[in-house]
Amino acid sequence: MKNKISVLTVLLSGLLQYSAMAQSQPGKPYHEPFRPQIHFSPSAHWMNDPNGMVYFNHTYHLFFQYYPGATVWGPMHWGHAVSKDLVHWKELPVALYPDSLGYIFSGSAVVDSNNTSGFGKNGKIPLVAIFTHHDPKGEKAGMDNFQNESIAYSLDEGNTWTKYSSNPVLKNPGIRDFRDPKVMWYAREKKWVMTLATKDRITFYSSPDLKRWTKESEFGKQLGAHGGVWECPDLFQLKLKGKPYWVLVVNINPGGPNNGSATQYFIGQFDGNKFVPVDQATKWLDYGPDEYAGVTWNNTGGRKIFFGWMSNWLYATQVPTEKWRSATTIPRDLKLIEHNGSILVASLPVNELNGLKGKSLTINNIKVKSKYDFNDLAKKSVGQYKVDLQTYSVKDFTIELSNTKGEKLILGYNKTANQYFIDRRQAGIAGFNKEFAGVYTAPRFSDNKRIKLTLVVDQTSVELFADDGATVMTCIFFPRSTLNQISVRTSGYIRINSLSVSPLNSIW
Ligand code: FRU
Repeated sequence: MKNKISVLTVLLSGLLQYSAMAQSQPGKPYHEPFRPQIHFSPSAHWMNDPNGMVYFNHTYHLFFQYYPGATVWGPMHWGHAVSKDLVHWKELPVALYPDSLGYIFSGSAVVDSNNTSGFGKNGKIPLVAIFTHHDPKGEKAGMDNFQNESIAYSLDEGNTWTKYSSNPVLKNPGIRDFRDPKVMWYAREKKWVMTLATKDRITFYSSPDLKRWTKESEFGKQLGAHGGVWECPDLFQLKLKGKPYWVLVVNINPGGPNNGSATQYFIGQFDGNKFVPVDQATKWLDYGPDEYAGVTWNNTGGRKIFFGWMSNWLYATQVPTEKWRSATTIPRDLKLIEHNGSILVASLPVNELNGLKGKSLTINNIKVKSKYDFNDLAKKSVGQYKVDLQTYSVKDFTIELSNTKGEKLILGYNKTANQYFIDRRQAGIAGFNKEFAGVYTAPRFSDNKRIKLTLVVDQTSVELFADDGATVMTCIFFPRSTLNQISVRTSGYIRINSLSVSPLNSIW
């Protein structure tokens, strides 16, 4: 006989008492069914990768792969949104349109403070975007060189862009997948370094002026995951106990740890020419099914802020939203940690997210055996919230987020496997693609006697940060009403040292 299941049910129906449908206010932008309330999504139409993320004059710029003609992928533009705090976003007009050289695929943007490009005028510092021109005609004709790197600049804070007249600046040598340039200033040698995804490896290039590029080296043909094509890379420095390391991020599709699209990374050293990894391990920034094309902001000093697309190419074009498709993840601060002699990247939601918090509700020191009802404690209706849980009992347990329709998302820890997991099989609409309903697992990277979990829950997503961000999982779902009840279950008993729930105000 199975042990009696002990249940701590934190019924938040007072706190979170309304459904996604109830919250949806037809006709009101950003309040349609399934609309994320604490994540950026375009007001309408298709979005995929975040692009050109750069901090400039106290503003965070987000560009993104955008097709303003439909809610499925199409001729790519760069959409544009800005934020002062990484949390509240204002969508601006499209920044870059397709042209005779092709669609505008993914890329990055830099602040050219020294005007190396010569695009600056009258002391105005240029923002320079470096992106892939994808020529659909060349692709159709069966050519190999239909992806080339081009640049554009803006002298008015990214509002209007001028494409460089001598585009492309980096010509394709005959590699079908030759895209997604991420450019950074390599101060030691006063040059720009471009990290480019070139099919099954990364190729580094350098330039004095963003216009003339020289190949430096290649990395990764024999290393890391290769279940799919390498895309959207990133290269940046982080310190561990004062010692600098370089992190090389490589998105891959398919071939992720839980199928489809995912973000892997390597830790190593970079000398302006070559990237040399410190170990041979394959590491994942996010183990969930729904974080992809994630890269970091440029021009944020020592702070490294990561942002991903919250979907998966397996089903991105089929998810049941009507007016728009896809959102970004919560922005995350990255740091290096050590576990069992291995260096890992940990990520946590940016502190700015706390600015959305309403009144938190906390319970301490509960032996999970019975049911706890929190209906009276918070009256404010909200459909998105943050859960922080700590337990010193490292045992099997699950957290269930559910609604009154019997739909539930189950997250938890499996001690035998030493894994976290998310099970969305019963979390709502899933029939739009046979790959969607599933259980996703991720290793635990901590020997701490205490398990610490943070969940960031929105209308249609959960982001799990375990052990201070050592394990991260992002997962979307489509419930018929908000998952507004929380319960913790375990076989036997478990002491929850603290559990707090903070409602998060909508950003819209
Ligand atoms: C990744 C990606 C990129 C490409 C873009 C096209 O999701 O395939 O490699 O530049 O999307 O939209």
